[in-house]
Amino acid sequence: MKQISTAIISNTELMPGVHLVCAKAPGIAATARPGQFVMMNCGQELTLRRPLSIHQVANSNQLYLLFNIVGKGTLWLSHCQKGDSLDLLGPLGNSFSIEPASKKMLLLAGGIGIAPLTFLAQQAIGQGKSVTLLLGASTANQLYPQQALPGGIQTIVTTEDGSAGKKGMLTDILPDFIDWADQIYACGPLAMYQTIATQKQHMEKPIQISLEVRMGCGLGACYGCSIKTRHGMKQVCRDGPVFNLEEIIWQEVKI
Ligand code: FES
Repeated sequence: MKQISTAIISNTELMPGVHLVCAKAPGIAATARPGQFVMMNCGQELTLRRPLSIHQVANSNQLYLLFNIVGKGTLWLSHCQKGDSLDLLGPLGNSFSIEPASKKMLLLAGGIGIAPLTFLAQQAIGQGKSVTLLLGASTANQLYPQQALPGGIQTIVTTEDGSAGKKGMLTDILPDFIDWADQIYACGPLAMYQTIATQKQHMEKPIQISLEVRMGCGLGACYGCSIKTRHGMKQVCRDGPVFNLEEIIWQEVKI
């Protein structure tokens, strides 16, 4: 884990209210694994750092962060320009695991849940795996642009209002792909996880999910990110953010 002070290379609004920031961060990018996150210092007015998933790395020295504007910290970052300084701590947390014997990877990205999965897809493609991405959003203009995805991914799109791809939810089409997949990964809203947890078809195949919760320290010190699991209380920042879906007691999770 490193704390670095760096400069922003670019800040693009990819979808309304969703930004992609690129920063030079060799100390973090070189060792980051898919699923990990960084804690970002958000200027002088906000004391607490904010967690952000590592979206992609490039050339082992550039870090991409994709985020929704959901509060003061992400609003602050959305206003940062090229050349502005950024203070980051990371990489933090555990990561998605890819079994060497697995050939077919199924990824479910609900909305901003695409944030950590792109890095995973990038790594899986690099290892010669076959990757299918189920990409969902509420409406077409909230869909992550497919041209920004790593090449070689098969993408199936759903939107809730039917303005792009198939009308409906990702969880409607998930059962069609479970038999195909060797490993399954998901990131999205709580309601998506709760629905998957009630779909019994996947039970033979564990699903790795990434949890996004409020964090105080990101380092396992404040217990502000504790959640109840079937194996006792866990800290999302230190024991996660990646968990097996079955491990979480979903009725008790508040995000
Ligand atoms: Fe402080 Fe996890 S955020 S313990």
